[in-house]
Parts: sequence; C-alpha cells; structure tokens
Amino acid sequence: MEPTSGSLERTLLGPGGKWPAGLGPQVPFSHLRVRRCLRCGAFGVVYRALLEGRPVALKLLLSEEGVPTELFIQEAAVLAALDHRSIVRLVGLTVVPAGAQGIPEASSVPRLAIVEDFFERGNLQSLILNQMVSPFTLYSMATALDLMIDIGEALEYLHSRCPTIIHRDVTPGNILLTKENKRLKAKLCDFGVVALIGEGGERMERMHTGLQGELPKRSISRDLCSTIYHDAPSTADVEVPQPAPCGPRNGHVVSIPPVWDMTGETGSYCHMSPENFRSEPYGETADTFSFGMVLYELFARDLVAFSDANPDSPYSAKEFAYRLSKGYRPCMPSHMHPEVASVILKCWKAEPYLRPRMRDVVAELKEIRESGVLRKERRRCSLMCCC
Ligand SMILES: Nc1ncnc2c1ncn2[C@@H]1O[C@H](COP(=O)(O)OP(=O)(O)O)[C@@H](O)[C@H]1O
Ligand SMILES: [Mg+2]
Repeated sequence: MEPTSGSLERTLLGPGGKWPAGLGPQVPFSHLRVRRCLRCGAFGVVYRALLEGRPVALKLLLSEEGVPTELFIQEAAVLAALDHRSIVRLVGLTVVPAGAQGIPEASSVPRLAIVEDFFERGNLQSLILNQMVSPFTLYSMATALDLMIDIGEALEYLHSRCPTIIHRDVTPGNILLTKENKRLKAKLCDFGVVALIGEGGERMERMHTGLQGELPKRSISRDLCSTIYHDAPSTADVEVPQPAPCGPRNGHVVSIPPVWDMTGETGSYCHMSPENFRSEPYGETADTFSFGMVLYELFARDLVAFSDANPDSPYSAKEFAYRLSKGYRPCMPSHMHPEVASVILKCWKAEPYLRPRMRDVVAELKEIRESGVLRKERRRCSLMCCC
C-alpha cells in the first residue's frame, strides 16, 4: 500500500484499513510508469502509463483535495463487475501519492485513479473528425457497421444485467478503438454517469463496494464541451409535451421497455434522448437513442456537434438537444445506406417505448452485415484506410 494521507485514506479504507472488495484489485503506484497525458477534461485527466511494461490508461479524478466522489467510485465498481469483449477492462485502482512524478494534478494531495487496459487507436470522435477533414476514406462502411455491432452488443450486455445498467453517455468520445486480429474493434468506456436499476425496477444509488463512510456527490450534467453550458438558460421548461400512453396499440401487444424515474439531462447534449432532456422518466432506450445518433455520425461521416450544433455558440449543444426534443433530426446524406438509415430512424423515435431494445438493433445490424450490401464498398477504401 502506498503512503497516503488525510481524507482519501479514511474514505477508502475505513477503520479496518482493508481495501474495499467491490472496487477491483489495488495496483501499487510504484508499479506504474506514467508516460503522457491523453486528455484533460473538466472532471478528470487521463494518462497513458506502463504497468510492468504493459500499456494502461490512468484516469484521475479532479476533485477538491483528491477526495473521490460517489460517481468516480461507482465508475470503478461498475467496471469491476463487468466482463465483455467490447467494454473497457478495469485493471484496478491506484492511489497516486502527492507529488507523484509526471502527474501535476497530484502535486499537493494524493488522488485515486482508475487503471484500465489501454486502447491505442484513440476514440471514435477523433476518427470521425479526421474523416471530416481528410480527402481520403479513412474507414469503410463495413468497418463502421462492425464497430457499431461491437458497441450495440456492449449495450445489450449492460441492459441485460441485474441490476440493469443504463450507460447514459453513449457518444463517439466514449468509444475507444483498437486493432485485434488486424481488425478495428470498438470498446465502450466512461461509466461515470451510469444508472443502476434493481430487479423490482427500483433505482439503485450505487453498486456495492464495501466502502466505508459517505462520499461527496458530483454534478453529472455533462457535455462534449461541458463546462461552458453550466449557466446556459434552460430551454427544457417550454411546452413540454405529455408522455404518450404505454400499452397495446393497434390491436398488437408490444414489448415495452421499462421506464424509470431518473436524473434528467445526463450525458452529452448532442446525443441526449428527448425524454432525458425534458427530465422525464426514461429507461434503457435512452441509450438506444444515443446509439442511433452515433450510428448516424459514423455513417454520415459527420459529427453533429460540429455541424448541426454551431460550435461558436456557447448554447448550441443545449439548443440542439432542445430541437431534438421537439422532433428535429439531422438530415440523412445521400451516401447513407438505406438499410442503416432505417435502423437510425427507429432508434430516433421520439417515444422511448417505440424505440427498439438494443438486442433488436444488434440483430438488424447483423442482418445488414450478412446481406453483404456494405461489403462491396470496402474495396473503394483508400490506402490511407485504417480498417
Ligand atoms: N483505456 C483507455 N485507452 C485509451 N484512451 C483512453 C482510455 N480511457 C480514456 N481514454 C481517452 O481519454 C478520453 C476521456 O476518457 P473518459 O473515460 O471518457 O473520461 P471523461 O469522463 O473525461 O470523459 C477518451 O475519449 C479517450 O480519448
Ligand atoms: Mg467521456
């Protein structure tokens, strides 16, 4: 155990001094070699590091005095409970001592950090952004489909667990890329704002961790450019339509994904479902909506945050979410495959209970893959192609 001090040690270890069982293994910081900073966000910093020679990502929380918040602990606890080929794998947790070399954020206080497997190909947001400015084709539509099937399966796995896990922040920035057996693969990451739903449909505050004591809460309304939207005027309280009634329609009995009362406005505004934006009850199909938005971005080769939402305006992303909640949807470009467009439109349905569950979305995407309609296009991919 590394020497730590003050509230971090007290919060984590409690009076018994034992490492909380539900948080995954403890990684001694002395086994890590910190290399470079990958991303510095409003809530956290991600470093690339080596753990006994193997590349890992180190995710530090930027909270006051280094005290981990409930959501940070929950992220580690959720990751510790997951095991799926398309979800980032938790290696463990480490305590970064104050003054640790190469980590300026830990200069004055020790900090808790999540250690994950490292994925070397960046995230989907960078891939789409690079594609937007590149004259070459960087990825084929067949690869795009494979990546979205990976993420669809990851969500299907989360939704089928007990407690049900709703990710609530499915965005291109939270999808990491790697090469496995010469193929580009996608991994879902960032479990900082998940919602947990128990067997009886009750909202669970947190995963069991064995942690002692109270943890501070943190604000969970985030965005691609989160910090600038905190003071944006709320557009959510204008003309809120009533939720449509659930139940059998047109004589057919439909399977209605359950809906729970949860924190509204959670996740990226550009990918937020209408019911989430309006702070209405929502369920797993809030992830279906966000998935549809990412599916659109990857196949349209266009990030909505950079085109539909005007990046020059501090209110743009929130206004974009507001327009989505009023029925607006981005235009399908002429190169969009009709089969994929049809799946996107289903995911984008305004009523949460009309959207397909992720297992049905994955089944449709697999059918498209098997039909071979996208395969021909792979040959047109340029030499610069990453797939
Ligand atoms: N395991 C990882 N491997 C490689 N890069 C990572 C990893 N985890 C995070 N990153 C990089 O850091 C970024 C932010 O990570 P994320 O977990 O989404 O944190 P945040 O809560 O700040 O959004 C990702 O978009 C990705 O570029
Ligand atoms: Mg993120």
